[in-house]
Amino acid sequence: MEQNYPNLMTPITFSNLTAPNRFVHQPMECDDSIDGFPSGRTLDRYRKLARGKAGITMVEAVSVGNNRARINQLMVDEEHRKGICELTKAFKNVNPDSLFIYQLNHAGQISGEFHRPDVRESQVVRVYKPKGFDNKPGKMLTVEDINEIIDAFIKGAEIVYDSGADGVDVKFCHGYLIGQITRPANDREWEYGGSLENRLRFPKRIIEGIKERITDPDFCLMVRISMDEGDAISSGETITGGVGTTGPESSEHSLDESLETLKMLADWGVDILNISTGIPAYNADTWVRPAKPPKTFDADDPTTYTQYHHLAYSLTAKKLDLGLPVVASGFSVFGKDIGKVGENAIREGYADLIGIGRQTLADPDIERILSGEANYCVRCRGCAKLLVGQVPVGCIKYDRESRERLKSL
Ligand SMILES: Cc1cc2nc3c(=O)[nH]c(=O)nc-3n(C[C@H](O)[C@H](O)[C@H](O)COP(=O)(O)O)c2cc1C
Repeated sequence: MEQNYPNLMTPITFSNLTAPNRFVHQPMECDDSIDGFPSGRTLDRYRKLARGKAGITMVEAVSVGNNRARINQLMVDEEHRKGICELTKAFKNVNPDSLFIYQLNHAGQISGEFHRPDVRESQVVRVYKPKGFDNKPGKMLTVEDINEIIDAFIKGAEIVYDSGADGVDVKFCHGYLIGQITRPANDREWEYGGSLENRLRFPKRIIEGIKERITDPDFCLMVRISMDEGDAISSGETITGGVGTTGPESSEHSLDESLETLKMLADWGVDILNISTGIPAYNADTWVRPAKPPKTFDADDPTTYTQYHHLAYSLTAKKLDLGLPVVASGFSVFGKDIGKVGENAIREGYADLIGIGRQTLADPDIERILSGEANYCVRCRGCAKLLVGQVPVGCIKYDRESRERLKSL
């Protein structure tokens, strides 16, 4: 395997850590916790990922507070410390070598309000008044609320560190709270709105706080970021003021602010960048997880790779030359060619690591993926429908239970 994929299977070192190869199991929320604690199903999923042996396995979005998008989302706070320790142990007992990184999140206005007596309640909270594509009503966050959320992220990172995991990802991507506060649409007049400096103050305080509290170089800090939240939502409505636009009411696209943000992240001490795009709640199939690469994309010809937006964005991040490894997203579209495209992409400088999301549900085993013998993701959207349906997520092509669950929705 190493011979056929010399770039993909070469270890990479950052901070004081070494990922044994260049595959990243991207975070995949599967909505199967019990009251925020990992269930037996959750633990089994992560044992299976551990056996898959990616260089990095990421834990799905774990909520640092009670504003969560999913009924059965994992949570990280003092109450859930035991659950986090159990999850890290389950993974590391099977595979101590792959890096295990938790994604920390707060859903902000994408939080659900469940109104169910059997589940913990969650509340929709907002950074700026509802407008444009982002117009769901919710409680406006105050400066005090924001400061509490900063503390919750830092506390979450400490718990993850204590559990023996290798790092945390502070979730900037996919339109959750950090996306909502950093996008130009947040023109609210307060210390967390308006200028880019103000909009970045919230994540800056989180990242600097984590760095201050956890100084161990064997623990890394990742940021997964949507470089551009997209041009339109699924109804066709244009996105104005999203990350990657030029102003609060603008639909004109520019990467200037995102590139400035990446430079800031490097200055604040982030160790690794994971590049994504879009907002699943609004434009999943076009921006976040497409069904196919563009027609003109040729796996054998790396000069065509910029035609796939995920690789174009990771290349842009790489070109900044910040000295941080860059993960490219959206590799499930390549099926049997994941290895070929990944190998070429790393060799030609499009990315340092490659991320697979849906493929991890179909079959997370790196050796099988490279050998051509894996169960390959068919991009049917079944997993996403389960997630939207607020039930445990799996691959409906290869897992009968998930198929049955989808039928019952
Ligand atoms: C069911 C489901 C759950 C997901 N959960 C997360 C998540 O928790 N955090 C995240 O950053 N992305 C999440 N994503 C996005 C994936 O990590 C990935 O970026 C996307 O599916 C594109 O990669 P792929 O083409 O390899 O699937 C999720 C996607 C799906 C379909």
